[in-house]
Amino acid sequence: MNATNIKIGLFGFGTVGQGIYRVLERSANAHAQICRICVRDINKPRDVDAPRDIFTTNADDILNDPEVNLIVEVIDKAEPAFEIASKALSKGIPVVTGNKAMLAQHLPELIELQRKHNVALLYDASSCGSIPVIRNLEEYYDNDLLLEVKGILNGSSNYILSRVFDHGESYDSALRHAQELGFAESDPSFDIEGFDALFKLVIITVHALGVYVKPDDVFTYGIANIHDADIQYAREKRVKIKLVAQVVKLDQDKFTMFVMPEFVTKSKYIYSVDDEYNGVVIRGECYDRQFMFGKGAGSLPTASSILSDIMARRHDYRYEYKKMNYLSRPSYTTDVTLKVYVRFSATNILHVINFERVYEQYISDNNNYVIADVKLSELIAKRERLNAPDLFFANIPQFYIDRD
Ligand SMILES: NC(=O)c1ccc[n+]([C@@H]2O[C@H](COP(=O)([O-])OP(=O)(O)OC[C@H]3O[C@@H](n4cnc5c(N)ncnc54)[C@H](OP(=O)(O)O)[C@@H]3O)[C@@H](O)[C@H]2O)c1
Repeated sequence: MNATNIKIGLFGFGTVGQGIYRVLERSANAHAQICRICVRDINKPRDVDAPRDIFTTNADDILNDPEVNLIVEVIDKAEPAFEIASKALSKGIPVVTGNKAMLAQHLPELIELQRKHNVALLYDASSCGSIPVIRNLEEYYDNDLLLEVKGILNGSSNYILSRVFDHGESYDSALRHAQELGFAESDPSFDIEGFDALFKLVIITVHALGVYVKPDDVFTYGIANIHDADIQYAREKRVKIKLVAQVVKLDQDKFTMFVMPEFVTKSKYIYSVDDEYNGVVIRGECYDRQFMFGKGAGSLPTASSILSDIMARRHDYRYEYKKMNYLSRPSYTTDVTLKVYVRFSATNILHVINFERVYEQYISDNNNYVIADVKLSELIAKRERLNAPDLFFANIPQFYIDRD
């Protein structure tokens, strides 16, 4: 590409799409212009005033436009987005996307399409909004030293938990506030049940360790069932409960990954990641820990990451997925023991879960809890039953306990 010829076909003109339009207006050095915009409803009122004649509802108007040489895809659905990205890549048109649900479900096919058609797909905006996690993992951490990537990857659930812990707000009121402020969707399950963090973790793991793990194979447990009793317990122990996603190398041959609420002590970097912010800790041999912090979502922060990928295309940048070609890559295991806190009432959890070791049990008229060791594979096997509303699970971290 030369200095004047990025002609963008934009799919989606919602929160992120309109942010991209605004950010590009301020970025003379991008030399990039949005030529066409595809949306679902052309008559919908928009906050950003773009020329009406560039809008369409027909994807092919963009995909068949010879002028368009970069697709930016920011729609809110995974399957139509996959169709758009696949068609564009098959035609040799590079794609920039922020669509974590599409990527987490279709990365192997999308990587194959990039190879087959020698074309780039960039997606730093998909994981932690404005924080440049993917490109750093891909380039700077291109070696065997990386041991762990762990963090708060979902701004909405973090906002809710911050309001509860730091402002004494009830969970329901914090959720309502998150929705009013636009941090949580009207259907917030994607965020609070942990799937948003899961999809980001799947993408991060491809770039951290060179291994793709299907979202369905990863234990994911959110904050939907958190209760006053859990908050009181955490306060008494002087910890905060955060929704944490992590991928951890256990040795040279194995790694594990999961998304779960976690007891976080004051000494940890992520303890002070509050409100709608995201924070990612990268730990490795030789360099110990590094910490990235920033806005993980929102119109302009996410658009800034998309802009960065647009600019990267100016230099023909693409992910090479180098770690996927390493001679030895670790394999994913769920044969690992976690120490967990489980609060329960009607469900007798000791009859449901096969715990390896019980350290502590508390039984009262209202609530009961147990602190115990359990295999991650056992949690996965029983996961349907763990969603019962009277249960709440939290991880008590033990991998590298003093250092993460
Ligand atoms: N919001 C964030 O902070 C954030 C951060 C990182 C990544 N992302 C990702 O970015 C993407 C967009 O998020 P958003 O918050 O901007 O969503 P949004 O506000 O709901 O906007 C979605 C846009 O997609 C359009 N659309 C839906 N289906 C379409 C289709 N089949 N063809 C063409 N256009 C279609 C909609 O058209 P209409 O306007 O006509 O309905 C709308 O303009 C999602 O994948 C999300 O996960 C978002």
